[in-house]
Amino acid sequence: MASWSRLVRFVDSTGRETLGEPILPDDQELEDWLASDERWTVELQGSSSPVGPLTRGEKIQVKELRPVVRQSDVPIIRCIGLNYMKHVQEAGRKPPPYPSVFIKPNTCVAGFNEDVPIPQIAQDGTVDYEGELAIVIGKVGRNITKESALGHIAGYCASNDVSARAWQRDPEKAGVVPQWCFSKGFDKFAPLGPVLVSPSLLGNASNLHLRTLVNGEERQNTSTNDLIFDVETIVSFCSQGTTLEAGTVILTGTPSGVAMGMKPPKYLNDGDVVEVLISGLGSVRNKMVFE
Ligand SMILES: *[C@@H]1O[C@H](CO)[C@@H](O)[C@H](O)[C@H]1NC(C)=O
Ligand SMILES: *[C@@H]1O[C@H](CO)[C@@H](O)[C@H](O)[C@H]1NC(C)=O
Ligand SMILES: *[C@@H]1O[C@H](CO)[C@@H](O)[C@H](O)[C@H]1NC(C)=O
Repeated sequence: MASWSRLVRFVDSTGRETLGEPILPDDQELEDWLASDERWTVELQGSSSPVGPLTRGEKIQVKELRPVVRQSDVPIIRCIGLNYMKHVQEAGRKPPPYPSVFIKPNTCVAGFNEDVPIPQIAQDGTVDYEGELAIVIGKVGRNITKESALGHIAGYCASNDVSARAWQRDPEKAGVVPQWCFSKGFDKFAPLGPVLVSPSLLGNASNLHLRTLVNGEERQNTSTNDLIFDVETIVSFCSQGTTLEAGTVILTGTPSGVAMGMKPPKYLNDGDVVEVLISGLGSVRNKMVFE
């Protein structure tokens, strides 16, 4: 489907912003390319959207990376809760019979290195991180079968499902039924990026290594093989009776190690830097800034 296997957005030496496919020298890992001073791409022309039709152009050097997926590229973010067995246990719940779905608006999209503003209403000492594998839908679909699910995925990236726990779970704020959309839906509560990687290049999405660091301290460190529902099941389930438009982002759930599950919980403070790293996908690294 796509004309690329990895996709970035960048500014070149003339100040022009464009999409491109990273050119990795032999044996170089994506993480090393991202950290390098000299990064080359094949320019991809024809659209400014990561899910638009793109054709290959010239070899161009990167001056600075920009977020590959922007708010204007994303109609909606669908999210899966309680999708890693050890996280279900730390949250004191039972695994759901079907994927547990909630929604973040596209105003949650943030860049891979952008500050995340924590609004006053959520400055109650319960802000949490959730490192997650994100799916970006490349081809519109409805009632997608598991067998054809990968054909609807443009690529994967790293993400963080930033969460305000008291608004999610504290009966004083959420009532007796937890509410997910408000507590996880504040502006820029879903950093994405910095690279999209196609399913054909990435391979089995249930075999990735995910780590989350808070100010450099490791909090999450798991294989995605602890996923209860794999990416094919998630795409198929989310599309039942529901049109998944191109650009839709699906966050696939977080593994164990969130602040809420620690004894005592180590929630996020003003100025904390959260980095979510996934093998083969690079990392999102965002500072939490109380506004
Ligand atoms: C979606 O699937 C249901 C049954 O699973 C079927 O009744 C319906 O016609 C399908 N809709 C489309 C658009 O394929
Ligand atoms: C993180 O997980 C990897 C792979 O399971 C393991 O080798 C490593 O020791 C873990 N790191 C820590 C700090 O436990
Ligand atoms: C993907 O990896 C998971 C976990 O290692 C494994 O259970 C599954 O069989 C693999 N799927 C394929 C298609 O290889």
